[in-house]
Amino acid sequence: MTQEWWRDAVVYQVYVRSFADSNGDGEGDLQGVRSRLPYLADLGVDAIWLNPFYTSPLADGGYDVADYRAVDPRFGTLEDAAELIRDAHTHGLRVIVDIVPNHSSDQHAWFRDGLRDRYVYRPGRGENGELPPNDWESVFGGPAWTRTAEGDWYLHLFAPEQPDLNWENPDVHAEFLDILRFWLDLGVDGFRIDVAHGMVKAAGLPDVGHPDQNEMLGEEPLPYFDQDGVHDIYRTWREVLDSYPGDRMAVAEAWAPNAERTALYVRPDELHQAFNFHFLKAKWTAPAFRTVIDDMLSTGAPATWVLSNHDVTRHVTRYGGGETGWRRARAAALLMLALPGSTYVYQGEELGLPEVLDLPDEVLQDPKWERSGHTDRGRDGCRVPLPWTSTGPSLGFSTGPGWLPQPEDWAKLSAAEQQTSPESMLSLYRAVLRLRRMLSFGDFEWLELPPDVLGFRRGAFHCVVNLGAEPVRLTEVGRVLVSSSRYGSDGILPPDTALWWA
Ligand code: GLC
Repeated sequence: MTQEWWRDAVVYQVYVRSFADSNGDGEGDLQGVRSRLPYLADLGVDAIWLNPFYTSPLADGGYDVADYRAVDPRFGTLEDAAELIRDAHTHGLRVIVDIVPNHSSDQHAWFRDGLRDRYVYRPGRGENGELPPNDWESVFGGPAWTRTAEGDWYLHLFAPEQPDLNWENPDVHAEFLDILRFWLDLGVDGFRIDVAHGMVKAAGLPDVGHPDQNEMLGEEPLPYFDQDGVHDIYRTWREVLDSYPGDRMAVAEAWAPNAERTALYVRPDELHQAFNFHFLKAKWTAPAFRTVIDDMLSTGAPATWVLSNHDVTRHVTRYGGGETGWRRARAAALLMLALPGSTYVYQGEELGLPEVLDLPDEVLQDPKWERSGHTDRGRDGCRVPLPWTSTGPSLGFSTGPGWLPQPEDWAKLSAAEQQTSPESMLSLYRAVLRLRRMLSFGDFEWLELPPDVLGFRRGAFHCVVNLGAEPVRLTEVGRVLVSSSRYGSDGILPPDTALWWA
């Protein structure tokens, strides 16, 4: 039996609103994605994950879903979705869609119609119920509760426009099983599960008793995240996935305190993968990466690796920006793509896009900006539309301006510019993705190297990364396959450089 496709797949994350605009309204759409399938197939990825494109007021970029079975008109139609899935398959690309089960939009029919038992309502504290039911904080800042006209409160771990669903209600369970079937019937190959660690809350909704809960996210147990009860939900989801032919899968966005807790989501009767955010958070040092890689691999669970996504600062910028960030991003790509398991690539990282740090205040849309009292600029800087060409009002993204402005110097980062340059980030990604498909890998084993250097072998295949400030001399290098920066025949590996050999 061949192994399941997702185990070592490279999945390209498409932030639909910012990928490609087919109708000139300044926002990306499903037909835009469809028009760029040849680019993605040529890049050499195995699958695409589409961020939410469902009917939504976009209070949180589409993670506030008003109708889980319909496409928002700004992104197209259900027929467009079906066509995109079909065409992707023709190009040899699998399709993963996002599912948002922790909360709906406040414009969802259930919330609007006042079906209160499907959400989490509680009386307030204080003499007249004027204080929130507990001390939980929204991930976007401020209390996680909003008071209703009736005087009680509803829970929203994110924005007030995103009321948390009540997973103690069997109707909610049944509804989501049906939504899964709806998209599976349309032909999707899998799901990315939003806030997969959130649906079940600790009994009695106890206080956290800590002044800054957002500091604790993903680090320590919280009464509203990573509760054991979520696993029962995924066992039932797995049954649905397994009842369809063709290796359908699900990947959890689960921010659990450690690798062991994360691994629980991928037990054989639960989900197939969970994102490994500890890799993304690792500082640019050899020991930091070695620790997170060891932690991941030692769980024995299917591994995933990710450097960027639509919620975090792009890694060119995280790694120092400018020349340094660019060099490190190239080296990090070689490291990530050499590891056993599957990889998630965020749109634009193959172009080496940096975070846009100077978006004007008035264009910011991320709810974090408002909810933090204008102290956190939020995540719009990693969601700026892609530059496809070096000219045009939005560099080929749309026929007019895009919904967020692109920096002027992005013309030289456009896909068209990079396509023909062998030194470009795009050429590196394409070359490495091709190589990865051709190589055969053996068992993972660390190489013993100087402290600033990280290296491992997988059979005859070797990957070595110099994360230090000094060049290092390598001995016993075999046939060089690719290097992220210049590697001469002198055996010297420069700083911030990765090398593959076999
Ligand atoms: C996830 C999404 C993020 C969204 C949040 C609330 O973390 O990735 O974009 O804001 O969930 O749905």
